[in-house]
Amino acid sequence: MTEIDRTGDRAPVPADWTYAPAPESRDVVKLRERYGLFVGGRWIEPSETYETISPATEERLAVVGQASAADVDGAVTAAREAFANGWSSLPGSERAKYLFRIARILQERAREFAVLESLNGGKPIKESRDVDLPLAAAHFFYYAGWADKLEYAFPNRRPKPVGVAGQIIPWNFPLLMLAWKIAPALACGNTVVLKPAETTPLTALLFCDVLRQAELPAGVVNIVTGDGRTGAALVEHEGVDKIAFTGSTEVGKAIQRRLAGSGKKLTLELGGKAANIVFDDCALDQAVEGIVNGIYFNQGHVCCAGSRLFAQESIYEPLVDKLKRRLETLRVGDPLDKNTDVGAINSAMQLEKIQELVESGRAEGADIYQPPCRLPEKGYWFAPTVFTNVAQSYRIAQEEIFGPVLSVLTFRTPDEAVEKANNTPYGLSAGVWTEKGSRILWMAQQLRAGVVWANTYNRFDPTSPFGGYKESGFGREGGLHGLEPYLRFDE
Ligand code: NAI
Ligand code: MG
Repeated sequence: MTEIDRTGDRAPVPADWTYAPAPESRDVVKLRERYGLFVGGRWIEPSETYETISPATEERLAVVGQASAADVDGAVTAAREAFANGWSSLPGSERAKYLFRIARILQERAREFAVLESLNGGKPIKESRDVDLPLAAAHFFYYAGWADKLEYAFPNRRPKPVGVAGQIIPWNFPLLMLAWKIAPALACGNTVVLKPAETTPLTALLFCDVLRQAELPAGVVNIVTGDGRTGAALVEHEGVDKIAFTGSTEVGKAIQRRLAGSGKKLTLELGGKAANIVFDDCALDQAVEGIVNGIYFNQGHVCCAGSRLFAQESIYEPLVDKLKRRLETLRVGDPLDKNTDVGAINSAMQLEKIQELVESGRAEGADIYQPPCRLPEKGYWFAPTVFTNVAQSYRIAQEEIFGPVLSVLTFRTPDEAVEKANNTPYGLSAGVWTEKGSRILWMAQQLRAGVVWANTYNRFDPTSPFGGYKESGFGREGGLHGLEPYLRFDE
């Protein structure tokens, strides 16, 4: 008798278990009322401003700058001066010292950063505390190690810094994406102008304080806040030598068009619609945990989220039953509560996009399941959702939802799994669940995805390159590969 047969319809956990609130204190974060732009090591008053909020409560947190093209120009000029006035010619071992300092300060101030990240972005504190912050520090440690070893990383190729890097990041992992961008850029001797996403500027602004503490020379890192207009001004600026972008495929394509023929270096890390493929010989309960982590981690605001579950037909029913029961135990609510599994949707705009796509799933004929849960009245929320009976042609199987919404499809043979998994314009990541090692290796070769996880999902490490195929973008971040976009190898 399987476990499912034994327990019948009963949930594995009593349905009325409630947790007492366990809120993390906000006191550790000292918000300023107003933030400027961080240019040349100083705070500059922006020409325009806007308010940034907490998506969980719609509470106003601070006034921040909407940098104009002139502000961006000032930041690029500061970065250029810092590049020319010493940073690019500093020995690698000296640059490494700054990176090590930044990493250590991030560790020391981890709690403050984690609370602020959850406050401004809506993600559960247990994720910002246990994932975003440790990984952000790890990226600085890792690239600090490369700074004085570039000659060994690229033997006989004379690596040199590119110059001024313009970096545009999204709102799903604000500090972590900052670390992914800034750490390799500085390790290679470049200077930086970084633009955080408009909904989540606060940890990047707090990071400026870390730069001061680390005594990083003025102008080496400049932070300009603002929306897509600020991003576009950075892309268009003639003084920028390299653009690194993480965000939507739509904006990525526009940037690529804009830069065609300009000679600027470009890396794009765009969307995804990953297949998480579950074979009937896998450890099923472990797979259920991986599926949940794959799609409900960070409210599904993850470019590599396992948003298409492919279940082998022979285990489809027990798998979906277990998954639905597991969903009932997910706690949705206050991001600052240490027991919360699923936090707030990042913005009203993103919530609208999720709602629209979920509506299309219903209309096209898929079956929807949402566990009973009471969503807070204020703020932006969406219950964890599973769609079954999904055809490959449905929008929910094709388009990136970027929310806590899973589409379940089925397959019979490994070949069919590969064909269906690759049937997407994207190619960022995939997951394979099976006990058979040879099948894992075969699948990993067939899947057109930059990252393939086996019997796990959403695992990140600074030593491992990350990036996509097809419309998921090009270029790699992390690992040795992540140095290359920040170097030139001509004489
Ligand atoms: P977006 O691509 O508009 O925003 C990402 C970053 O690009 C932000 O910093 C934004 O200010 C900036 N930006 C916007 N327009 C720009 C332009 N013309 N030139 C230069 N920079 C520009 O993404 P958005 O609108 O926040 O989200 C839309 C969808 O994109 C999401 O629903 C999701 O599907 C996808 N997305 C994917 C991400 C990923 O990690 N691959 C991250 C964020 C969004
Ligand atoms: Mg946009």
